[in-house]
Amino acid sequence: MISYETITSQLRALAEESRDCVALMANAAALLYERLPDLNWAGFYLVKSDVLLLGPFQGKIACVRIAFGKGVCGSAWQMNCTLRVPDVHAFPGHIACDSASRSEIVIPLHEGTKVRAVLDMDSPLPNRFSEADQQGLEYFAVALEELIDWP
Ligand code: SME
Repeated sequence: MISYETITSQLRALAEESRDCVALMANAAALLYERLPDLNWAGFYLVKSDVLLLGPFQGKIACVRIAFGKGVCGSAWQMNCTLRVPDVHAFPGHIACDSASRSEIVIPLHEGTKVRAVLDMDSPLPNRFSEADQQGLEYFAVALEELIDWP
């Protein structure tokens, strides 16, 4: 059983070295990818004016730009809430960066009340992310958004 508290403590330890946005996101992606089983992608998209631009990640080459309201990532940005998708093929407009992906979770990261980025995780397993995973990952995301020195 994954302890999201432990992973979040490790994130806090990493942030002691640097709170730089790219450095911390890069290690956060590596931490999640290494510690959580059955992922094929873990990483970030950053809000750059009217699009999400690819940020630090682990996994296969991914699409670089995602428009507001498009795909799971752009929808989570638009709705400003976590989207947990048990079957990506059933999500209208899902953007398939890796055809192996079956389920996905996307969590917005904020500076104050503004969405600055999204955390995106994909799995080759259907229904990989439970309600407990969502809660744990939201706990991790809140810690991360408060630790990051936003540019
Ligand atoms: N599936 C995402 C696109 C990003 S990749 O999964 C890395 C989406 O529909 O927004």
